[in-house]
Amino acid sequence: MAFRRLMGRWPTGVSVVTTREGERDYGLTVNAFLSVSLTPPTILVSLGHEADSAEPLRRAGRFAVNVLAHDQRAVSERFARAVPPEEKFRGLPVHRGRSGLALLDGAIATLEATVAKAVEAGDHTLFLGTVDRLDLGADSTPLLFLRGQYAEASGPELLRLPKSRP
Ligand SMILES: Cc1cc2nc3c(=O)[nH]c(=O)nc-3n(C[C@H](O)[C@H](O)[C@H](O)COP(=O)(O)O)c2cc1C
Repeated sequence: MAFRRLMGRWPTGVSVVTTREGERDYGLTVNAFLSVSLTPPTILVSLGHEADSAEPLRRAGRFAVNVLAHDQRAVSERFARAVPPEEKFRGLPVHRGRSGLALLDGAIATLEATVAKAVEAGDHTLFLGTVDRLDLGADSTPLLFLRGQYAEASGPELLRLPKSRP
């Protein structure tokens, strides 16, 4: 499809969005993630109606975004599979956020958010979340997604990373 192919030219990072309903963790790989507002800090994730995690997230009213590091491609693949949620988390090192949400070890950034609004848009639901807590996580480079494929930075010259600020 031309639209999908064209949008594949827009490079993104890769995240795993987690939520928790009762004692059950859910998670899926998401690249439709963006920051919306600074005051209050607000983020957005777009989940397809087909995603099994979408309704638990709506009911739980909270979610976490785990920004994956370049060496977490297998984690991305694991959370993009259509398997029961407990299988996605089996054997995976996680720690718990303040609200009990599963935060993935090794992620380069994690944000915990409370759903402020859910907006239906075609075959997706846009979940706007007010950020409750953030953590910079591991100091590493991100996993990238471009033209339907994973990409990794192979060095500062290729990615032209800005110098880190103190
Ligand atoms: C790189 C990548 C990015 C993805 N981004 C999204 C996304 O933004 N929104 C979405 O709903 N699904 C996205 N998916 C697909 C879901 O991860 C996949 O359908 C997953 O199996 C859904 O899990 P669930 O049904 O257990 O919720 C993406 C998959 C990959 C590999």
